[in-house]
Amino acid sequence: MADQTAKLTLPDGRSCNLPVVVGTENEHAVDIRSLRADTGYITLDSGYMNTGATTSAITYIDGEAGILRYRGIPIEDLAEKSTFVETAYLLIHGELPTQAQLDTFSHQLTRHSMIHEDMHHFYAGFPSTSHPMAVIAAMVSSMSAYYPDCLDRSSPMDLHITRILSKVRTIAAFAYKKSIGQPVMYPRNALPYCANFLHMMFAVPAEPYEPDPIVVKALNQLFILHADHEQNCSTSTVRLVGSSGANVYAAVAAGVLALWGPLHGGANQEVVEMLEEIQASGSDVKQFVSDIKNKKGNRRLMGFGHRVYKNYDPRAKVLKSMADELLNHLGINDPMLDIARELEETALKDDYFISKKLYPNVDFYSGILYRAIGIPTPMFTVMFALGRIPGWIAHWKEMVEDTSTKIGRPRQIYTGQPQRAYVPRELRK
Ligand code: COA
Repeated sequence: MADQTAKLTLPDGRSCNLPVVVGTENEHAVDIRSLRADTGYITLDSGYMNTGATTSAITYIDGEAGILRYRGIPIEDLAEKSTFVETAYLLIHGELPTQAQLDTFSHQLTRHSMIHEDMHHFYAGFPSTSHPMAVIAAMVSSMSAYYPDCLDRSSPMDLHITRILSKVRTIAAFAYKKSIGQPVMYPRNALPYCANFLHMMFAVPAEPYEPDPIVVKALNQLFILHADHEQNCSTSTVRLVGSSGANVYAAVAAGVLALWGPLHGGANQEVVEMLEEIQASGSDVKQFVSDIKNKKGNRRLMGFGHRVYKNYDPRAKVLKSMADELLNHLGINDPMLDIARELEETALKDDYFISKKLYPNVDFYSGILYRAIGIPTPMFTVMFALGRIPGWIAHWKEMVEDTSTKIGRPRQIYTGQPQRAYVPRELRK
């Protein structure tokens, strides 16, 4: 914070001094909280294009420079050296854990991996055509019914955090097993977080399943890279819902639903569907890019562009090289990867994409990795959600621990009818 003010002059000649807030990385904000009380004016910024909703010590992004850091640590270092569980601890608690802290955290996650047996009945109630995001959001929300202590705001926060982080993985794997008519596979305590998820997804009672270490590494990387991204749509949703005092399961379920949209977490599914469409129509990448530029069908190049990154998304860089490593290791020759590479190359040389600063984002290569791991396309957004859980939790925790938090409540500029009379029904034309 710095002792600076910005002077705002209004059309009627009045002016006011507004405090300037400065972040760790020298980002500047004008604090407009007193503006309405002092002048009657509000600010207007639909889509929150340039509005800071909070200060936060969790994640730093410099979209122009393509920088992403969790608690100060570059994402590239975490992707290479950390595990998802360690990164989750870092995001939630603010520091990398000591070995003893990591052991305790991992042990807690293992102990809380089962879901209440009664919750199994829910799966039977969904139509077989249900999108898994609908199922997962409903299941996360219903956890608040199974753990009603969450309604008591003084109940231990760490216990709820562990439950969500651990059980969501089981909920997601069970949803997949139910959707394909296979028996659910219970978690195996001997397996670490990501390997255990793969076991629940792909093991069958008749056959033992040993997760491939490179697949486990890829999944850890995918989850780490998705774990937080500061005030994105779903995280802001979690904060907004949580700001009303709603319990953490309700807030995280709302985050799952916000993530579902194709402009957010749903984009990874759309990328693969787009690549499949290009392949089915003869792999004419140049024609496809030209159609997008000419706004034919008003479509977008999915997996490209970002509200914050105006440079190559650092997460896409890591995933592009992981896609090469994983597909080589598994001996997979996926034509989707070739199409994706050509698409990227074509778009990055094109004036339309250059002038609008549109680069591949995290969703561009993640779908190809999920395919290689064997994750079905409708589960892609669920995978994003599993990775994002620590970020949602970290922001929820930061918000409820901050005693200055107020309920989120934007204002608006009304553009409807001025006051008018109620016309009796018989006189209406
Ligand atoms: N393909 C083609 N054009 C795109 C584009 C894309 N993927 N993303 C943005 N644009 C264009 C828009 O058409 C707009 O052009 P215009 O000025 O001629 O109207 C301009 O770039 C700015 O786009 P806008 O929608 O205002 O930017 P935004 O910050 O609101 O949107 C996204 C950000 C992520 C929603 C947007 O880039 C997008 O829809 N990307 C595809 C979906 C995706 O991959 N989402 C995952 C994000 S991690």
